[in-house]
Amino acid sequence: MRIAKILAAATVFAGLTAAAGIVATTANSQMAPFGGDEDIAYSQAVWAAMTDAKLVGAKAIGSRPYEGTEPHGFILETLYDEVTVNGHTGLIIVKRNYGPKGATVDEVASDPAKHLGAFTVMFKREAGYDADNKDWFWAKYLPDGSLDKNPKGMQLAGRVAKGADAGCIACHTGADGGDYMFLKNEM
Ligand code: HEC
Repeated sequence: MRIAKILAAATVFAGLTAAAGIVATTANSQMAPFGGDEDIAYSQAVWAAMTDAKLVGAKAIGSRPYEGTEPHGFILETLYDEVTVNGHTGLIIVKRNYGPKGATVDEVASDPAKHLGAFTVMFKREAGYDADNKDWFWAKYLPDGSLDKNPKGMQLAGRVAKGADAGCIACHTGADGGDYMFLKNEM
C-alpha cells in the first residue's frame, strides 16, 4: 500500500537525519532567508520533481481528503514521498489545501481541482542547508505552480520566515518529535 510505503520511508529518513545530527552551519549568502532568486529557482526544481512523482499536476495521484486545521485550510490531503532535486534525494511532504470555508470532504473528493487553494510543502534538503531548523526547505505554491506571497510581497520559498515570531518555521517548531512535523505524531 502506498501510504505504508511512504510512511516507512519517512521513518527511515528520520533515523538518517538523527545520525547526521552534527552538521556545520553554512554561511548564508542571501540577504533574506527566503524569497530570493536562488529560492525561487529551487522551488521550480522542486515543483518539477513533485510533478514527476505525481504529487501535483494534471496526473497527480488521488488521496483521501480530511477536515484540517488552520492555517492550512478547511480540507486537506497530506502525501509523503522521496524525490530527487538537483541531485539530492530527500523526504517531501505535500499538503494539498482545499476550500472554501464550508466545503465538505465529499465535495472536495468529487472535484479536487475545483476546490484546490494551495500546496504547502516541506522538502528535507542536504545537511547544512538550514542546520538551525533541521534543513527543511519550505514553500507555498498556488495550484498553477507559481509561489504564493506574504503580505510584503515576498515569495514563499526557502527558509520561510526564519527567525520571525510567526510563519512556517516558528509554528512548526511547536510540533513534537523535534523534526518540525505535526503529522508524524498522529500516526
Ligand atoms: C500557525 C501554525 C502553522 C503555520 C504558520 C504553518 N503551519 Fe504547516 N502545519 C501546521 C499544522 C497544525 C499542521 C498539521 C495540520 C493537519 O494535518 O491537520 C501542519 C502541517 C504541515 C505539513 C504536513 C506535514 C506536517 O507537519 O504534518 C506541511 C508540509 C506544512 N504544514 C507546511 C507548511 C508551510 C510550507 C508553511 C508556511 C508557508 C506552514 N506549514 C505554516 C501549522 C502551521
